[in-house]
Formats: sequence, structure tokens, C-alpha cells
Amino acid sequence: MAPALVIGNGDLPEFEGRITIYVAVCVVIAAFGGLMFGYDIGISGGVTAMDDFLKKFFPAVYERKQHAHENNYCKYDNQYLQLFTSSLYLAALVASFVASKVCSKYGRKPTMQIASVFFLIGVALTAGGVNIEMVIIGRILLGCGVGFANQAVPLFLSELAPTKIRGALNISFQLFITIGILIANLVNYWASNIHPYGWRISLGLAGIPALVLCFGSFAICETPTSLIERNKVEKGRKILRKIRGVDNVDDEFNSIVNACEMARQVKQPFRKLMKPASRPPLVIAILLQVFQQFTGINAIMFYAPVLFQTVGFGNDAALLSSVITGAINVLSTFVSIYLVDKAGRKILLLEACVQMLLTQGIIGGILMKDLKATDSYLSHGEAVFVVTLVCLFVMGFAWSWGPLGWLIPSETFPLETRTAGFAFAVSSNMLFTFIIAQAFLSMLCHMQAGIFFFFAAWIVVMGLFTWFLLPETKGVPVDSMVEKVWKQHWFWSRFMGGDNDEVKVV
Ligand code: BGC
Repeated sequence: MAPALVIGNGDLPEFEGRITIYVAVCVVIAAFGGLMFGYDIGISGGVTAMDDFLKKFFPAVYERKQHAHENNYCKYDNQYLQLFTSSLYLAALVASFVASKVCSKYGRKPTMQIASVFFLIGVALTAGGVNIEMVIIGRILLGCGVGFANQAVPLFLSELAPTKIRGALNISFQLFITIGILIANLVNYWASNIHPYGWRISLGLAGIPALVLCFGSFAICETPTSLIERNKVEKGRKILRKIRGVDNVDDEFNSIVNACEMARQVKQPFRKLMKPASRPPLVIAILLQVFQQFTGINAIMFYAPVLFQTVGFGNDAALLSSVITGAINVLSTFVSIYLVDKAGRKILLLEACVQMLLTQGIIGGILMKDLKATDSYLSHGEAVFVVTLVCLFVMGFAWSWGPLGWLIPSETFPLETRTAGFAFAVSSNMLFTFIIAQAFLSMLCHMQAGIFFFFAAWIVVMGLFTWFLLPETKGVPVDSMVEKVWKQHWFWSRFMGGDNDEVKVV
């Protein structure tokens, strides 16, 4: 048996415990929820670029693609094709509010189990699709799975993690998302040459992570916080002992009991969220998600193969380029895991704004100059340069707005409004992901290269917001945010006045 160690961090309370194999297994199984989400993000772009898929469900788009003189930017503009991608996020948006209730009433584990059942049915309908309606209903069920998994998994990970590695563990959710996107890119690259059923393989392989989550979820435990919150106090203590691998868990147990007591006094967390004192974390959680999506990242994650075909690559080269951007996305996430608690959140976000602004601006400039709507192609050198710039853009996103868009909302709400506040973060993410997924191909068609300047303008706005209005939360204990962050802030302190409205921390 490995020796127990005391884990703690600065002025965070020090609780006894070690990282047990059981916790590691639980974390990996739960993270398959993130992998599922990433797989769904990455798979649709490649599938919608496959001719067999287009011929079966979108013959008009297939026809348009065959005409050499057709507008470069409009080849794929089709509301239904976009609906194939975006329907998932609309369903996830609605599902995340239901999931938030299920999560507090029945626990994190059943919420993940429900997610896996949605995933499995969704995979069967999309991979076995015989008409577009069946495929879109399948995407909607996958979306319900994403809504349930994205609500439960990050909370499950944070509640299971020993305090000291909570930040890194939280980012492992994002890491699994990026791994899911990369696997999807690789599968598309391989399956696109299998005719005429390659797209069915791409969509069907999503069944593997769904099965792991489904069967694996029987082996994982409920979190002690969720058990104690639902009055299963002794069971909570037993599980806490099991996951920490030590007998004496009194300090951590008492702190969870206290936190639950405080949270229980707030009968209406959603109402509490509307009070002025909840405004700083709520506004920041929502805006970070809006900004995360308006970086334009998902224009690339969903439509990279389409985008790379637009700048002149053939089918295979376009899919290969998206494999490269996918790999860069995964690797750069490790930079964030390493730097987030050393360099801090703000500097990563600001540096990335500069990097993303420059790359979007240069891509827009090149396309505006050399890729006219008709009868015009980028030279091979220019196309390769554009892919390089896309890689630099993805790199910047992956060590900043990607993981921090999820991390900051999970560490700034007090316990009593944490699940409700996080539901707003998840649903804002889904809403704006939906908007980008639904609108991007039409925007590309109408705005042409200007779309890159549109995203660049948003990056300026989010940079200014980060500089002036986002406080640094590095090293601040989650339960000291009010005193140490909001009350000290030049702008947000004005919301912290009224006694009744004050966010009381636990
Ligand atoms: C975002 C996704 C995005 C992914 C890219 C996530 O944080 O929420 O919308 O596709 O990062 O890695």
C-alpha cells in the first residue's frame, strides 16, 4: 500500500489522502464523456465532406461541388447540411438544464449513465441512417448525451479529485475533448476511402466510447459531495475513505458536510443566481463561453476539411490537414495543464488573443487577395501557409480559451450556486456553438474572406474584456473568491455591497 500523503496547496485546507487507483479508473471512465463530445465535434466536418454521404443525403450540395466554376466559398452552403452539424448543440442546450436538475437530485453517476444511453441510441440512428430525418434525430439524441455528460463529468472530476490536482484534473476534461476530436479526424481520414459506407463507419465508431462510458459507469462510484448533499451521509464518508485510500478523512468530510449545510439553506439556486452578488461569476461564465465560440474555433473544428478544400486542397490532403490541426490541439492542451497554475489564467488568455488575432488577420488578408469567389485558386505554397496559420491559431486557443472557458466558470461560483451557474456556462457554450455551426457555411458564402476579419474583431473585444474586467483567479482558494477577488476588484466590487445579496462563501 502506498504511503498516505497530505495534499494541500497554499492556504487551501490540507486533507489526508492519496491518489488511489480507484480514483484514476473513475476519472478515465468519466472522461470518456469528454471524449464522446470531442468525437462528435470532430466527426461531422469530415463526414459532410464525404461524397458518398453527400450523394445519399444532400444530392444538391454534391452536384454543386462537382461544378468547377461554382463559387469557391459557397460549395457547401446548405441549411440542412448545417442542421446536420448544429442540431446536436441545440439539443444539448436544452438537455443541460434538465441534466442540472438530474445531477443534483439523483447524482453525477446516473446523469452520466443516462448520457451514455442517449449516446448509444444516437450512434445507432446516425450510423444506420436511411434518410436525413433519421440522421438528424440521431444527432439530436447525441446532443442530449452531450448535454448530460458535459453537466456531470466536469463536476464529477472536480469533486473526486484531491484538492491539489483539481485544476489539472479539470483540464483533463478538455484534454479528452481534444483527443476525441483527433480520433475523429483520424477515423475520417481512413474511412473516407472506404466506399460507399465510410461515413457509416465514422459515425458508428462513436459507439465505442459510448459503450465504455455505459458499462464503465457501473464500476464508478458516486461522489461524496453528491451523496452527502442528498442526505446519504454515512455512505458519503465510506466512499470518501475508499477514494482517498486512508481511514482518517474527518477534515475533508466535515468540510463537505459544512459546504452542503450552507448550500442547503439556498432553496432556489437559480433565483440566488439572479441576485447582484452572483453577477460577477455569472457574467464572466457566460461571456467566456460566448467569446470562446467567437474566436471561430469551431469553424475550424467542424469544417476544417471543407475549409481546406476551399483553399484548394483535394479531399485527402484536406482531411490530412485536419488530422494535423487535431494533433496540435491535443499537444497544446498540455501547455495549459503545465502553465495554468504557474503563469496564471489572464496571461494565457491575453497572449492567445494576440496570436489568434494575427493569424486570423493574415489568413483573411491572403484569402481576400488571392482567393476570389470564382476561377481562382491559392498556389500550393499559399495553401500550405494557410494551414500553418490555422495550426498557430489552434495552438493559441488550445492553451487558453479552450480549457479556461471551462475551468474559470467551475472555480468562481460558491457551492450554493455552483451547479446552477455551471448549467448557464454549459448552455451558453451550446447556444453559441449551435449559432456558429448553423451559420458558418452561409457566412463563409456571403462574407467570403471577410469572415476571418469578423472573428478577428471579436478577438479584440475579448482581449479588452480580459485585460480590464477579468480578475486573476490563480492560486485563490475556490471558497475565498468573494473576499480575495470580487470585493477587491475595481469594477465587480460594486455588486458586492448588499448584505442580503452577498454571496456567502463556505
Ligand atoms: C470548446 C469546443 C471546441 C473545443 C476544441 C472546447 O473547449 O468548448 O467548442 O470545439 O474546445 O478543442
